[in-house]
This record gives sequence, C-alpha cells and structure tokens, in this order.
Amino acid sequence: MRILLIGFGVVGQSFAKLILERRNELVKVHGLNPRIVGVVDKGGAAVANPELDLAEVLEVKKREGTVAASKHGKKDASALDLISNLDLDVVVETTPTNIKTAQPGLSHIEYALKLKRNVITTNKGPLALALPELIELSRYNNVALLFSGTVGGGTPILDFGKRCLASDKLVMVEGILNGTTNYILSSMEAEGKSFEEALKEAQRLGYAEADPTLDVEGWDTACKTVIIANWLMGRGVTLKDLSVEGITHVTKSDIEEAKKKGKSIKLVGRVAERIDVKPRLINRNDPICISGTLNAVRFVSQYAGDEIIIGKGAGGMETASAILRDLLEVKYRMAQRWYE
Ligand SMILES: NC(=O)c1ccc[n+]([C@@H]2O[C@H](COP(=O)([O-])OP(=O)(O)OC[C@H]3O[C@@H](n4cnc5c(N)ncnc54)[C@H](OP(=O)(O)O)[C@@H]3O)[C@@H](O)[C@H]2O)c1
Repeated sequence: MRILLIGFGVVGQSFAKLILERRNELVKVHGLNPRIVGVVDKGGAAVANPELDLAEVLEVKKREGTVAASKHGKKDASALDLISNLDLDVVVETTPTNIKTAQPGLSHIEYALKLKRNVITTNKGPLALALPELIELSRYNNVALLFSGTVGGGTPILDFGKRCLASDKLVMVEGILNGTTNYILSSMEAEGKSFEEALKEAQRLGYAEADPTLDVEGWDTACKTVIIANWLMGRGVTLKDLSVEGITHVTKSDIEEAKKKGKSIKLVGRVAERIDVKPRLINRNDPICISGTLNAVRFVSQYAGDEIIIGKGAGGMETASAILRDLLEVKYRMAQRWYE
C-alpha cells in the first residue's frame, strides 16, 4: 500500500517508527505492506519509489530538522504537489490542528479526496470545521475518510460507537476527552493546587502546551465533541454550533465544594439534545470519573444501555496505532471495493 505522510512531528514520526517495528508482522498477519513513498514537513519533502528508507528519514529529521535533507529530499515540493504527482493509495494527514481556518490540513484533505485518494487524518481542525462536507466529498469520490486517532488517541472510541453500536440507537454520548484539563482538575483536587499552579505543573511535565488555550478553554474537547456528534449521531454540526466553556475559572473552593458533595469537577463534552462542553459535577464513584491524563467516554444507547470506554487520550505511539487501525480498514475496504 503506497502512502504519502504529510506532517512529520510527534505523530508522523511515531507512525514511521511503528511501521519499521511491525512491518514483518503486518505483512504476515494482515497481508498489509505499508510503503511510505513520500514524507512532507514544513521544510520540503522526501520521495522515493518503491519506498523511502524510513530509518534514514527519521535520522535526517532528527539531525537536520527537515526531511528535505534526506538523500531523497526535495526542498521545493509541497504536500499538494505530492498528492497530485505520486501514485498513491492513502494520504495520511498529521499537520497541526488549526481551529480558525483548519489549514493547511483542510486543503490537503479536500485535494486528496477530490483526486480519489483515501485519507486518514489525526488532525481535528478540518473535521471540526467541515466534517459534513468532507464526508460528502469522500462519498462522492468513493474513497475512505478515516480519523480514529482524532478522538481518544489510540483508544477506539469512534470505532466502538460506529461499529459495535451500529445496530442500536445512541441517545447520548458524553466524555472526558482532554487529558491536559483532566490532569489539571485532578491535581487541583488531589493536591489542593490553584488552577495556575496545576497548569504550570502540567506544562513542566509536558502534558500542557506552552500556549494551553486550546485545551483549557475547552476547544480541543469541542473539536472531539463535534466529531462524535457528526460521525456517531449524524448531527451535521460544526464548531460554531456548540456552546463551549473551559476550566480557567474553576477555583480551589469550587473543587472543595464539589468534594464535600462526593463529586468531582470534570470538563465534559456532551452530545444529547444539546451539544455542549463545560465543567460538570460528576459523582466520584461514577466510572467515568477518572483522574490524571486518561480519557473516558460514556455511550448511552436505547437498547444496550450504558457502556464506558477508558484509555489514554493522546501520545505519539498511541495515535500512530490508531492510524494503523485505519490503514487496515482501508486495506479491507479496497479489497471489497467498499468505501462508506
Ligand atoms: N500528539 C498527540 O498525542 C496527538 C494525538 C491525537 C491527535 N493529534 C493531532 O495530530 C496532528 C499532529 O500532531 P503532532 O503532535 O504530531 O504535531 P507536531 O509534532 O506539531 O507535528 C506537526 C507536523 O506537521 C508539519 N507541518 C506543518 N505545516 C505543514 C505544511 N504546510 N506542510 C507539511 N507539513 C506541515 C510540521 O512540520 P515541521 O516538522 O517542519 O515543523 C510537523 O512535522 C495534530 O493535528 C494534532 O492535534 C496529536
């Protein structure tokens, strides 16, 4: 399977390492031979046929900062050039999430779908701003658009809702979908820290970005909630349709008050009649009341009742494992000529 990998940061490099590590097993067990024919970062690209030497590309990226310095480097090549010029089965899009314009990911995904390339992405921006249109574009062009790494990292939250509950009727989905805010709230509760102290600690440990806005103001959770609302519950919404509130105003005394009532404050994305993101009081003995950087999602369906999935919500290798899951799905769909 010929793959173009756009973005070679934490997730892109983890995906390359995973392929290096697991290639023999993927061929033997799944009949999948992933061949990365191109990798693109901001400095340019590396391209080779029949495939790139991934160990060399990883080493060059670490040493020189860009894959364009590889022996197969092309300084002036952009992602759009490669999407149209390479012979490809799948485009894997892992550029940064941008919730204002969704770029550059949105252009990459739209262009790839229009050229009938299957697309796998971990980038929430294009999905949060344009998922209904992108689903339509993928159906019109009869190619797959898969994104299981966008919600829950490697934890198969979307796949569980989509496949395992396909025969039921989802009434409500709610979850703790952002590890950074959950870490901050958990450490405020366990150690009596203020929001600012807990945020600093999260940044020191690498759980929060230098600019934590997307996480603490609820936008990362909102992107994931939009994806759940559209993909699992057919709601046809984008980010602007949600009411979004973050955790920046949660105080030590709010947490203490909640504790006295046997509850914890958690940032929850919920898709019910309303779709919203806000800090909510959760009973401390509720299984979704997890602490640290974990994610937890509750699916309430009409016949099967409540089900809960808990797992790590992010991480390079975890998210790369979700890309691999999607890649296997593309392989099965190509074999069956079935893309929806
Ligand atoms: N990290 C996680 O645990 C995780 C989990 C789930 C989902 N995600 C999502 O997955 C995506 C990737 O995350 P990440 O952590 O790997 O981000 P990252 O480390 O910042 O990597 C982003 C990569 O995109 C490249 N890039 C930026 N603009 C580009 C352009 N115009 N053309 C080609 N490449 C471009 C960057 O190039 P340079 O290397 O040259 O800067 C970099 O290699 C994000 O959307 C993120 O929200 C991440």
